[in-house]
Amino acid sequence: MIEVLVTGGAGFIGSNFVRHALAAHADWRVTTLDKLTYAGRADTLHDVLDDPRHTFIRGDVGDQSLVEPLLARSQIVVHFAAETHVDRSISGALQFVQTDVIGTAVLLEAARNARRLQRFIQISTDEVYGSVATGASRETDELKPRNPYSASKTAADRLAYSYFATYGVPVIIVRPSNNYGPYQYPEKVIPLFVTNAIDEKALPLYGDGQNVRDWLHVSDHCRALDLLIARGDIGEVYNVGGGNDVRNIDLTRRILALLDRPESLIAPTPDRPGHDRRYCLDSTKIQALGWRPDMPFERGLEDTVTWYRENEWWWRPIKDGDASFRAYYDAHYARPR
Ligand code: NAD
Ligand code: DAU
Repeated sequence: MIEVLVTGGAGFIGSNFVRHALAAHADWRVTTLDKLTYAGRADTLHDVLDDPRHTFIRGDVGDQSLVEPLLARSQIVVHFAAETHVDRSISGALQFVQTDVIGTAVLLEAARNARRLQRFIQISTDEVYGSVATGASRETDELKPRNPYSASKTAADRLAYSYFATYGVPVIIVRPSNNYGPYQYPEKVIPLFVTNAIDEKALPLYGDGQNVRDWLHVSDHCRALDLLIARGDIGEVYNVGGGNDVRNIDLTRRILALLDRPESLIAPTPDRPGHDRRYCLDSTKIQALGWRPDMPFERGLEDTVTWYRENEWWWRPIKDGDASFRAYYDAHYARPR
C-alpha cells in the first residue's frame, strides 16, 4: 500500500481530493491531517470517515511532534492546509503567516528526514503572480503578491522550492486558479452568492464587478494533482488553470439566472482593499503532460448550484447556526472599506 498524507483534507479542495484519491487508487492508504479551523469540518468527509483505507487525525501542521512520525511513514504528501480567505487575511494577517508560512516550514523540516517520501505536493495559488492586466501568467514569471494571503502563500511556495534546491526534498509546486464545486465554505464568492440567492438575500458584489477570475472545477484540479503525483518533475512548478475567465458581474448574473432570482438582489459593495483585478494562467506546461480541464463552466456552475440546493444539511448549519460565521459576516459586510 502507498501511504498518502493529505493536510487540510477536511476543507474544500482537500476533501474533494481525499474522495478522489480513495476512489481512483485502490492501493492508496490516505491519512487526513486537519486542525478543523472554522473552515474545516469532519462533516465534509462524512462519506469516507469509515473507509478502512482512510484515517482522520485532528491536528495542526505546525505541531512538530505530530507531523514528524506522519511524514516518516508517508510516500506522498499533498499539502493543502492553509488559511485561505483573502478578506480575512486583510483583517488579520498574522494567522496566515502562522499557518501558511510557519506551518509549511514545519512540514518541510519533517520532510527533510522522511526517508520514504517520494513526492511533496505544495498547493500554491495563481495569486502569487499578482494582478495581471493582460495575457496569461507563466511559471517563470515574476511573483508579485499583493495581499497578506497571497504573500504568505508565495513565501510557502518559495520555501518549498528551497527545500528541494537545498536538501533534495521531492517537492512539486502547483499553482491552481480559483476552484469551485461541492463543499466550498460559504464565505467564498460562488457558495456565498448561491446560498444567499437561494434565501433571496442580497449578493454583495465588490467594487464595479469587473474583476476577472479563471474558474477551475475542483474535479479537474484533482485529476491534475493525480497526474502531477505520477508524472510531474520534482523541483518544478505547474500552473493549473480552468481556462474560464469570467467577470464577477457575469458570474453573479449567471447564478441569479440559474436560481430564477431577480438582478435586484445584486448589492454593490465597497471594494476589497488592494483587490486584484484579474488572474489568468498559462497552463501549457501541465497540458504537455496530457491534462486538460474537462468540465465546461456552464455545466460545472449548474451542477454546483444544484449541489448547494440539494445539500442544505451541509451549509445551513454554518450560515444559520454558526455564531462565528454570522459575526464574521455582519462585521465584514457592514464595515466601510
Ligand atoms: P479551505 O479553507 O476550504 O480549507 C483549508 C483546510 O485547512 C481546512 O479544513 C482547515 O481546517 C485546514 N487547516 C487550516 N489551518 C490548519 C493547520 N494549521 N493545520 C491543519 N489544518 C489546517 O481551503 P481550500 O479552498 O480547500 O484550499 C486548499 C488549498 O488550496 C490552500 O492551500 C489554498 O491556498 C489553495 N488554493 C485554493 C484555491 C481555491 O480557489 N479555493 C485556489 C488555489 C489554491
Ligand atoms: O485565485 C485563487 C484563489 O482564489 C485562492 O488562492 C484563494 O484561496 C481563494 O479564496 C480564491 O481567492 P479570491 O479572492 O479570488 O476568491 P473569493 O471567492 O474570495 O472572491 C472571488 C471574487 O469575487 C473576487 O474578485 C472578489 C469577489 N467577491 C468576493 C466575495 C467574498 C465579491 O465581489 N463579493 C464577495 O462577497
